[in-house]
Amino acid sequence: MSQIKQRFDEGLDTITTLTGLTQADFDKLREAAPQAKQWGDAIVAMFYDTLFDHPRTAAVFQEGERPAREKTLEEWYASLFEVDSVDQFLRNQARIGLLHIRRHVHNEFMIGMANRLRTLFETKAVEAFGNEEGVAVAQAFSRVLDTVVGLTAEGYDVLSKIALSQATGVQETVIDKFIISAVGDVEKELLN
Ligand code: HEM
Repeated sequence: MSQIKQRFDEGLDTITTLTGLTQADFDKLREAAPQAKQWGDAIVAMFYDTLFDHPRTAAVFQEGERPAREKTLEEWYASLFEVDSVDQFLRNQARIGLLHIRRHVHNEFMIGMANRLRTLFETKAVEAFGNEEGVAVAQAFSRVLDTVVGLTAEGYDVLSKIALSQATGVQETVIDKFIISAVGDVEKELLN
């Protein structure tokens, strides 16, 4: 197995272990699909209104790109209710994560938007299914979302280091040491 694939597998194992994502979450979403799929339009509208309202996130998009992005998010959302294999789903999300990295979608953008998605989904789920079942459905959605965002964040981190190491010929372990020593300097500047 290549080193990149091995690191991806390790990342996958860590993020799914930490979020606790399993096939049971996708089964729960499938049960909720008749209601939850109807929330797609509201979710997509909220998502892009938020991103286009803020200059740093709006700057990620090209002129006239919004309709295409709305369509891909709508399709992605609908696809969450038809997952039979966690592994296959996550391998596909790796590709989506790489697309974001290429477009400079920073981790804090992803995390902020994941929070918006989670909150809106939870509100709708509790409205539709009542408190107990609504929270159970929302938690399943949350585990999926955080795993996807975690994978993208891991990709950003790992790829930045690989790229720097390849461009400079400096080993990643050495880059790690530089990062740790830079933390000290940044801390002094920020906290003093
Ligand atoms: C939880 C957060 C997010 C999710 C679940 C998500 C999901 C997706 C999906 C499913 C695609 C389509 C991938 C494909 O073509 O198959 C996509 C593409 C894209 N997203 Fe996101 N996204 C998120 C956050 C963001 C944020 C915060 C931004 C910008 C600030 C953004 C900008 C983009 C762009 C520019 C593309 C097009 C990439 C390309 O094909 O060049 N996304 N996203």
